[in-house]
Amino acid sequence: MEQVFINLFMNAIQAMSQGGTLTVTTSVKCLYDTPLPDRSTQGRLSVGDTVVMAQIRDTGVGIPEEKLPRIFEPFFTTKPTGVGTGLGLPVTKQIIDLHGGTMDIKPASKGGVQVTLMLKAENGG
Ligand SMILES: Nc1ncnc2c1ncn2[C@@H]1O[C@H](COP(=O)(O)OP(=O)(O)O)[C@@H](O)[C@H]1O
Ligand SMILES: [Mg+2]
Repeated sequence: MEQVFINLFMNAIQAMSQGGTLTVTTSVKCLYDTPLPDRSTQGRLSVGDTVVMAQIRDTGVGIPEEKLPRIFEPFFTTKPTGVGTGLGLPVTKQIIDLHGGTMDIKPASKGGVQVTLMLKAENGG
């Protein structure tokens, strides 16, 4: 899981080379009252589950709409050779998958990117 956060923080930092704000929030929620991020529960989480939710939001350059579908492709990068490998998000997704969790990436409301991670809590909280 450490790797997950390092990858996501690195992406946020690299997207904010002119400066910006990185916001990380964590919470424990019962899925009864949480609006589920679009298309994101992937059949793994259901209503009634208690989840640990982490949101990582930056105010960086954002991801253009047309590139959004490609960001989980291995070796897809918009960064210069030597800076980006294009492996951060595919590996991150893999780790979240192995934990049976979900990851949703979407444009943040004020520009930048918002990543939402959800992991099922061990003992139903
Ligand atoms: N927080 C972010 N802000 C803007 N673009 C991002 C962000 N996170 C990921 N991206 C885009 O997704 C691409 C793939 O990310 P990743 O798999 O981590 O590879 P890398 O960081 O090596 O380029 C990046 O090259 C970038 O275009
Ligand atoms: Mg990266």
